[in-house]
Amino acid sequence: MAPETTPIHINQDLESTLNETRVFPPPPDFAAHAHIPSLGAYEDLYARSIADPESFWAAAARELHWFQPWSKVLEWNLPHAKWFVDGKLNLSYNCVDRHALGDNADKTAILWEAEPIGPNGQPEVRTLTYAELHQEVQRAANALKALGIKRGDRVAVYMGMTPELAIALLACARIGAIHSVIFGGFAAQAIADRVNDSQCVAILTQDSSYRRGSEIPLKRIVDEALATTPSVKHVVVLKRSGTPVTMHPTRDHWWHDLVSSVEPVCECEHMDAEDPLYILYTSGTTGKPKGLVHTTGGYSVQTYLTTKYVFDLNNPAHPNDVYWCTADIGWVTGHSYVVYGPLQNGATVLMYEGAPNYPAFDRFWEIIDRHQVSIFYTAPTAIRAFIKWGNEHVERHKLTSLRLLGTVGEPINPEAWMWYRDKIGHDNCPIVDTWWQTETGGIMIAPIPGAVPAKPGSATRPFFGIEPDVVTKPDSEGRYESVPLGSGGLLVIRKPWPSMARTIYGDDERFQKTYWSDVPGCYFTGDGARRDADGYYWLMGRVDDVLNVSGHRLGTMEVESALVAHTKVAEAAVVGRPDDLKGQAIVAFVTLEASALRPSSSANSADPASTAPVDLNALKDELKKWVTKEIGSLARPEEIRFTDALPKTRSGKIMRRLLRELATHGSIQGDTTTLEDFAVIAKLRESEEG
Ligand code: PRX
Repeated sequence: MAPETTPIHINQDLESTLNETRVFPPPPDFAAHAHIPSLGAYEDLYARSIADPESFWAAAARELHWFQPWSKVLEWNLPHAKWFVDGKLNLSYNCVDRHALGDNADKTAILWEAEPIGPNGQPEVRTLTYAELHQEVQRAANALKALGIKRGDRVAVYMGMTPELAIALLACARIGAIHSVIFGGFAAQAIADRVNDSQCVAILTQDSSYRRGSEIPLKRIVDEALATTPSVKHVVVLKRSGTPVTMHPTRDHWWHDLVSSVEPVCECEHMDAEDPLYILYTSGTTGKPKGLVHTTGGYSVQTYLTTKYVFDLNNPAHPNDVYWCTADIGWVTGHSYVVYGPLQNGATVLMYEGAPNYPAFDRFWEIIDRHQVSIFYTAPTAIRAFIKWGNEHVERHKLTSLRLLGTVGEPINPEAWMWYRDKIGHDNCPIVDTWWQTETGGIMIAPIPGAVPAKPGSATRPFFGIEPDVVTKPDSEGRYESVPLGSGGLLVIRKPWPSMARTIYGDDERFQKTYWSDVPGCYFTGDGARRDADGYYWLMGRVDDVLNVSGHRLGTMEVESALVAHTKVAEAAVVGRPDDLKGQAIVAFVTLEASALRPSSSANSADPASTAPVDLNALKDELKKWVTKEIGSLARPEEIRFTDALPKTRSGKIMRRLLRELATHGSIQGDTTTLEDFAVIAKLRESEEG
């Protein structure tokens, strides 16, 4: 949504590059064998896909296995789409069985590397062929069935990056249970909120996970959440670290006990194309995360096809590709481009358990050389961190196996793009900057490598069958128009696409209001964009109150709600400040309860000499810890600023633009030990914002 008080912010970095004409054609060696080998081929297929999207997507769908063909490709009642009506399929079948029962049985499906370094100086590495993955998925699926979990039930998954996490998703899909993955960095309250919203009947978790040399006690965090999640009847615990955990005698089960006591064969449910596949929560402009619902058929088709073309996978010229997307499966990138997209394409998928800087700053490059990774997909935030850590960590490694690089999650600054191309890709790999969202399910705008010339900082041109547009902000009558090439506006999608989210779980009204009402007739992305003279898209960040911190999406209201839940906080307003490393950093303006400001007394309160002034810096730390405890460390404010009142317009709206300016350009009072007074400045700005 684009509320009145939220203007479109143009990212200056990107804007300045618009005038630049740096264009990088695909490396000729790459183009020679790519699926789509030339710009002409891209433009021709794009034109045909837009002229007749239904035929285009139907042809893609025919590359997958269907138990029953569809009777109609698309039924569109804005904002509700049904793709591949009456078609029956199973995504677990298309990811696993199709390959295990065919020529790929002995091909490595998952190549997993643990974070800890063993006594021999090497990390643990596990490989699962497609045949082995088939066995594991069937056993896990039967284990879920043995617990009474059935088609349509919601199953929460709160795990670290282990092969069993991918297996968990595939097992749910196999029996038609709807998974709801909760990122392993979320805190107990965030788990409980998500589990309760969709009434999950089970949680799959693990004893603990490894991250940057520490153990994160996942089961203990789940136990805390379970105090307020009455719908959960079963907890399945994977033994990863072996660290002792408390097991409830009837509710909790060890993964290994369950899978060893069930039959090895589990046939796939024949799912309707429109049966829900998963729910994934993402931040919006209110305090409550939205459970986006993705369904089976269209999601399968678009993740399959985008993976094939954008990452040039499933290409007979490159049978030994090793594909690595560094995203956690807890985010949509992990769903679509660690698990479902690449496995449908029969790829070898590398999964790494831990942090990029453990035990040293070159862990990623070591992994690429060790496993001969050829396709590498990561976030701009990670690239900026690599740059900061220094080239020496990269230059120690060959990186000659790489042939394609990708980025996702936030705009990439051209400097980082150039570094990525030069230092990691050795000027030899196309870079695909992929724009999409949890809501879109799959990639929407990205250069087709081998065909579309890249411009550093631009996601370039739309994927086949996708019709984006950049439009003016609608007037009070809902009228708007496309902006001319070279101008900026709101990014919308004009036509339905197969992997679009179908609704918000339990709140279809919010779905319609959030995405389909701001720009009548179109899907509104919440992003601002410009299109240059060549029709290239330049993403310019959110135009609503959603933050993008290190490529993670967070609602300002979510953080504000956590802050005001603290007894000492009266009011809070959270804004994003541009940050060289994280993209945006969280700055929270907080007004305190009067009681919090009263000097504290020692035990002997009768003695006036014992009263100490309130330590505001200590209180800032306390609040940062509080937010971490309530949501998770990804929401921890970078800075907390206390103020005696929040600047508001006459109608009571918080003047966020003013706060953003203050957060970005400094303070009214530089002294952090006293409260800031916005009253005067707020008055001056009122007419501007109101
Ligand atoms: O603002 C855009 C930004 O990330 C938002 C979507 O976040 P999420 O649903 O968490 O999905 C992230 C991974 C797909 C978008 O609204 N975003 C994503 N990719 C890009 C991007 N911004 C600029 N360039 C991108 N390539």
